[in-house]
Amino acid sequence: MDKDNMIEGFDRREFLKNAMAIGAGVAVAPLLVSEAKAATAAVAAAPAAAPAGGKLTMAEVLRVAREKLYPRCRVCPECNGVACAGEVPGFGGFGSGQAFKNNYDDLQRIRLNMRCVHDITHPDMEFKIFGETLSMPLMGANTGGVTYNMGGKMTEEAYIESIVGGCIGAGTIGFVADGIGDPLETFQRRMVVLKNKFGGKGVVIIKPRTQSEIIKRIRLMEEAGALAFGIDIDSAGRAARALPGQTVEPKTIAQMRELVKSTSLPFVAKGIMTVDDAEKAVEAGASVLVVSNHGGRVLDYTPGTCEVLPAIAAKFKGKVPILVDGAVRRGADVLKYLALGADATLIGRPLVRAAHGAEARGVELAMNTIRQDLQAMMAMTGTASVKNVSKSIIVGA
Ligand SMILES: Cc1cc2nc3c(=O)[nH]c(=O)nc-3n(C[C@H](O)[C@H](O)[C@H](O)COP(=O)(O)O)c2cc1C
Repeated sequence: MDKDNMIEGFDRREFLKNAMAIGAGVAVAPLLVSEAKAATAAVAAAPAAAPAGGKLTMAEVLRVAREKLYPRCRVCPECNGVACAGEVPGFGGFGSGQAFKNNYDDLQRIRLNMRCVHDITHPDMEFKIFGETLSMPLMGANTGGVTYNMGGKMTEEAYIESIVGGCIGAGTIGFVADGIGDPLETFQRRMVVLKNKFGGKGVVIIKPRTQSEIIKRIRLMEEAGALAFGIDIDSAGRAARALPGQTVEPKTIAQMRELVKSTSLPFVAKGIMTVDDAEKAVEAGASVLVVSNHGGRVLDYTPGTCEVLPAIAAKFKGKVPILVDGAVRRGADVLKYLALGADATLIGRPLVRAAHGAEARGVELAMNTIRQDLQAMMAMTGTASVKNVSKSIIVGA
């Protein structure tokens, strides 16, 4: 067996061969690691996106994405953390990859009760946050590392335009990242795009850098007119990947409070996985909580987010908006998270793929596809509004 193709006894070559058979319309690119160069060469010859003017399909978006992202992301038919386990930097989950797989597997295991005797044909899907009314309770997660995670196939500017613009096109909003290895100048470039192209309509999440480095970035996002600022507090352990002199650190309540007081922007605490961290973030002044394990990319063996969400929601629902992310892939995933107590959800990897497949058009299409799916799932479970999704739609709840 070729060692490069084995992860924890998982044979990528076999998996991807099978995926090619299964994935009609989303055929998988050549798989061998030794073929990576050939695949990269193919990217140059591949169309940048689906034909302009023609009807864009998700199959086409994913085909182009696969050509651009391979071997960083194989654009598997099901984005579940198996093929890319351990690939950080890259698209995978950290270490064994189990935290990413837990997000996916635990959510998939939840089954929905079907109810079709009612009069709900057009459920209410609107969600309000940061003074904006969104078309659905789904937003684009902040994903950084256009070079070291994604292989440098898009510029920072094109990437931000795709994520933020695509989300706005679908009637929602996107979050903007602060990559761990990125100097201030890269962050500045993102803020210029956010301001000039979108009037600041986006949420910006900063790494848990030193207080002074965070405050420098808060000033830049204020200048850009951002809707809110946040810290991915769960990046505290990633010091090893920061550039020399770019510290990341866990934050105390006092430090978070200092940041909250330094700006009038609402504070989003991203990376909450326990009730006690949620309590501390709220005590520090968090306006929004994001239940997240960073897509399984920071601490090996965390539970999936759907396992920890109900306890956090039991304590904070109605007091502060609770967002959640991890393995949202279709409308039913959004609906499950809402039934477990979230107010709204974020989606990461599928938008990275969509941005590489067809820039903002790809992201907009991916988001609209999930919105339509969510609408159908709501009708099929007798759910009238995203604002009060009953737990009873979950089998056994
Ligand atoms: C390539 C990549 C880069 C990411 N970069 C960041 C980041 O810089 N900051 C952050 O808070 N989360 C980051 N995330 C995590 C996402 O914000 C989000 O929590 C996660 O992707 C959700 O899981 P999903 O991808 O399964 O939807 C990143 C995720 C990926 C896949």
